[in-house]
Amino acid sequence: MSKTISIAIDGPAAAGKSTVAKKVAHALTYIYVDTGAMYRALTYKVLEDGVELSSEDNVYNVLQNCDIQFEQSKEGQLVFVNGQEVTKAIRTQGVNDHVSVIASYPSVRQEMVNRQQTMIKGRNVVMDGRDIGTKVIPDADLKIFMIASVAERARRRHEENILSGFESDLEQLKEDIKRRDDIDSTREASPLVKAQDAVELDTTSMSIDEVVQQIITLAEERADLR
Ligand code: CDP
Ligand code: CDP
Repeated sequence: MSKTISIAIDGPAAAGKSTVAKKVAHALTYIYVDTGAMYRALTYKVLEDGVELSSEDNVYNVLQNCDIQFEQSKEGQLVFVNGQEVTKAIRTQGVNDHVSVIASYPSVRQEMVNRQQTMIKGRNVVMDGRDIGTKVIPDADLKIFMIASVAERARRRHEENILSGFESDLEQLKEDIKRRDDIDSTREASPLVKAQDAVELDTTSMSIDEVVQQIITLAEERADLR
């Protein structure tokens, strides 16, 4: 069997990872996996079940009975939890508020990493998250660490919310982004850090298409080295 190719994209909240990752995957005809959506889907289920989320054991039990699936549709990628479509429901403020605490639990992370590694076996993939280059695919062919200023990330999320008809408060977004970045990068279990061999891309003043093109060029250069 020929070798599979993997591109890992990590970075802080709202840096543009999933938007860019989807487009790169489409251009290269690879699959795309949004690992943040998996932590969000679990958080949604924990909140829906009214489970005490300060207990790692309780949260892990929910995950064990939580089937998380992705499906491609004309409107984009849909997310399902135990057969229920939750694509929009996992983007609410309630989920934003709690997802980073739930994602800090080591047992939860280990199970998520196992599922993610199983999902991509034998497939060319673009995967985005916080620990893809360090933990999920440590031997990825290309690792990107995508960053942008907090002000620009909040501005982008704000614009996205308004376009989607969600209520949005720019100052609250800034605080939310800083709080999640802080929890994600200081947790003990696989914190958000740049992998040693990752290429850092500061997208603060780059358009989506410029970022996509730069990653495709880097991927092609790596393929040339093979
Ligand atoms: O899109 P956004 O940057 O708001 O976040 P996301 O990628 O949907 O991820 C939501 C949260 O899940 C992050 O803030 C992390 O706490 C967690 N996460 C993680 O810990 N590891 C991953 N591989 C992906 C997400
Ligand atoms: O996945 P992550 O949380 O890193 O970010 P995202 O959800 O892909 O991007 C957040 C918002 O920024 C989206 O509305 C993108 O369209 C926008 N964006 C942008 O304006 N310029 C970029 N270079 C990248 C993303």
